[in-house]
Amino acid sequence: MQTTARRSATTEDDITSEVLRRFEATPDVRLRQVMQSLVRHLHAFVKDVELTDAEWFAAIQFLTETGHMCDDKRQEFILLSDTLGVSMVVDLINHRKPEGATESTVFGPFHREGPPEMAAGDNIAPRDSGTPMIVSGRVLDLGGRPIAGAKLDVWQADSSGLYDSQYADSSELHMRGMFHTDDEGRYLVRTVRPVYYAIPDDGPVGRMLRATNRHPWRPAHVHFVVSADGYEPVTTHIFDDSDPYLESDTVFAVKDSLICHFVRHDDADERARRLGIDPPFYTVEFDFALKPRV
Ligand code: BEZ
Ligand code: FE
Repeated sequence: MQTTARRSATTEDDITSEVLRRFEATPDVRLRQVMQSLVRHLHAFVKDVELTDAEWFAAIQFLTETGHMCDDKRQEFILLSDTLGVSMVVDLINHRKPEGATESTVFGPFHREGPPEMAAGDNIAPRDSGTPMIVSGRVLDLGGRPIAGAKLDVWQADSSGLYDSQYADSSELHMRGMFHTDDEGRYLVRTVRPVYYAIPDDGPVGRMLRATNRHPWRPAHVHFVVSADGYEPVTTHIFDDSDPYLESDTVFAVKDSLICHFVRHDDADERARRLGIDPPFYTVEFDFALKPRV
């Protein structure tokens, strides 16, 4: 039997080579690199697991549902990236820090623009019934010199483990504030002790976690974006060293340098009295160190 010259890719590896070849003419060099690497890894994954038709279709349905779940309050794709550890890998690649600089971690989906301006000692949790907590410290440069006028955008979940935007009436900002350092680089935030909480798990990401026997919990933390003129901003958290989920954060965001001791006080001191805080209450100290902007 006579065979004709082959014009189409016929084997699994032929398809991979042909797809790579079609991206060869991409004018943007970086886009070409990203697309060809994506194709190489995606094809290798499909071949590795020998994806079935049904699994391929389930994946399409999963991604479709993930997209449908997204709106201005819910970002299911970020949750997917977070729970697959991709967000933290991107964070580590993009925020390599010199020794001594505060490490970054995930931004998460619950930051909101325009937090209320706060003076030192103001309370970001005025309507929360949790145990009061004072977070204080300094913002420093890498030589340990104070940075005056640094901005600290602070937010956290309430004592029910929910962010303000997760409530039906989410128009009002709560558990958030924008603080500034004084001339000695000091800041002072009044809040409540954070609790561990579950990431939203009523969508496809929650289904993925349950199907794989994973839990949805994040260890207790307070979020910060700390910024100052002439320095690279840092997006980070501080974590409670007594939290049971420190070693199994569902979004892989814990770094040792961000774990703090939250000290319990059963008697009021001068500062607590000045801030109108009745015991028991907690304090935590954390100094942020910023890297100069290049
Ligand atoms: C958060 O800490 O707010 C968060 C981070 C990643 C996923 C979900 C929540
Ligand atoms: Fe959080």
